[in-house]
Amino acid sequence: MNERKDLPRADTEAQEAYIARMRAENEAHTAGTGETRHAFVLTFGCQQNEADSEKLAGMAKAMGYVLTDAPEEADLILVNTCAIREHAEKKALSIVGQYKHLKAKKPSMVIAVCGCMVSQEHRKNELKRSYPYVDLVFGTASLHRLPQLLCEKIAKGKRLFCPEETAYTVAEGLPIHRASDYRAWVSVMYGCNNFCSYCIVPYVRGRERSRAPEAIVREVEDLVAKGYRDITLLGQNVNSYGKDLADGCDFADLLARLDRIEGDFLLRFMTSHPKDASRKLIDVMASSRHIARQFHLPMQSGNDKVLREMNRHYDTAKYTETVAYMREKMPDVTLTSDIIVGFPGETEEEFSDTLAMLEKVRFDMLYSFIYSPRKGTPAAAREDQIPPEVKSARFERLLATQNAIALEKNQPLVGKRLRVLCDGVSKTNNALYSGRTEGNKIAFFEGTPEDTGKYVDFLVERADAFALYGRKV
Ligand code: 5AD
Ligand code: SF4
Repeated sequence: MNERKDLPRADTEAQEAYIARMRAENEAHTAGTGETRHAFVLTFGCQQNEADSEKLAGMAKAMGYVLTDAPEEADLILVNTCAIREHAEKKALSIVGQYKHLKAKKPSMVIAVCGCMVSQEHRKNELKRSYPYVDLVFGTASLHRLPQLLCEKIAKGKRLFCPEETAYTVAEGLPIHRASDYRAWVSVMYGCNNFCSYCIVPYVRGRERSRAPEAIVREVEDLVAKGYRDITLLGQNVNSYGKDLADGCDFADLLARLDRIEGDFLLRFMTSHPKDASRKLIDVMASSRHIARQFHLPMQSGNDKVLREMNRHYDTAKYTETVAYMREKMPDVTLTSDIIVGFPGETEEEFSDTLAMLEKVRFDMLYSFIYSPRKGTPAAAREDQIPPEVKSARFERLLATQNAIALEKNQPLVGKRLRVLCDGVSKTNNALYSGRTEGNKIAFFEGTPEDTGKYVDFLVERADAFALYGRKV
């Protein structure tokens, strides 16, 4: 049993003092010039990164910056990066590259790059060498240090590259600027101990550490009191929650505690690891009032040899058994998964096993990925990498198989009435409003501005592989 990993109170207080200093500096600037300083936050990657960015934005606001959606208007640009696949890194670097000319126009602008990508030494060096207009670089473990880094940068006028911190902590009490007032992310733990052989996460986010259950309960209670309707608990591997806590509270216990909170809201969680998605967890879910009947359970591959080489610690039999138990307890559960195609050495036959597992398990939705070698991970060092054209062809076959299944899973919903939390005018089809069902499926309908953030009664009239279409009733 480890000790608590909370950031010492003195460190939090030091950051609060830096926040106050920056705020005074920004207010003095406004008093002197009549101009307000703005901050722009750009996020790549997963929900954990979205949640981190809400803290970056919260700190920026507390320091007196007004948040903006326009990078050209910003005095502080924060780019929160992802490292999960090469594509995410390339995109972040290309956008940072575009900020060069913004900085040329406004030399007082501070450009900060943080998050998973720059928690890798080689990327940090690359920014140092080839992006001289980037002022601040800090990894995931140093997120809470933004106020200090900014103060130092402004005082000394020098570029700062924060060394990787080896003591990974849990920083409580940071200000949060939530992007929505009815959906919220709540991180319950940070880091990952699993070292799946393809994955960079354990290297850039450090070892698992859980937040104290009391802090999580308080945060969720507060969100519910403020009218939040949909709350997603986040962790790289939420089923490991509590393994480092002295009081023996595991993830199922945490869910049970949160389920006792009164109010009209749904709880979700991600991501679960099949090796420790326990019956206890499924039982708590099945008997809960607030936990959405939705489960994201990344399978990664449908072949046992590949799963072994991925270091996943379960086989397809165990996976199938967990799903069977889940469906026995919650027949209407929505099940989603992640699949990687083209893992090193994956043969045509092994890939076919994955397709066969899709047919057998029948996911409602799938997040499919082409394997991307990540520097420093065991799988990246293998010599039997799959050629890009083979990976792409497998990817297309995977999508075709899954699309047919998703359509068959959605079709029976036609004629059903579902409760949908409305997200306002759809970003992909602005003639319609969109929302999410309890199973987290996208629903399109004709709405009104008042529907945003509210539950609407939705009648499904049509379904395709990706969404439900219908009307309010
Ligand atoms: N290449 C491709 N996909 C990856 N994932 C993680 N690492 C890689 C990689 N190197 C996928 C996994 C994981 C999801 C978040 O991203 O499927 O579950
Ligand atoms: Fe990566 Fe595996 Fe951890 Fe998920 S469980 S973050 S895939 S190492």
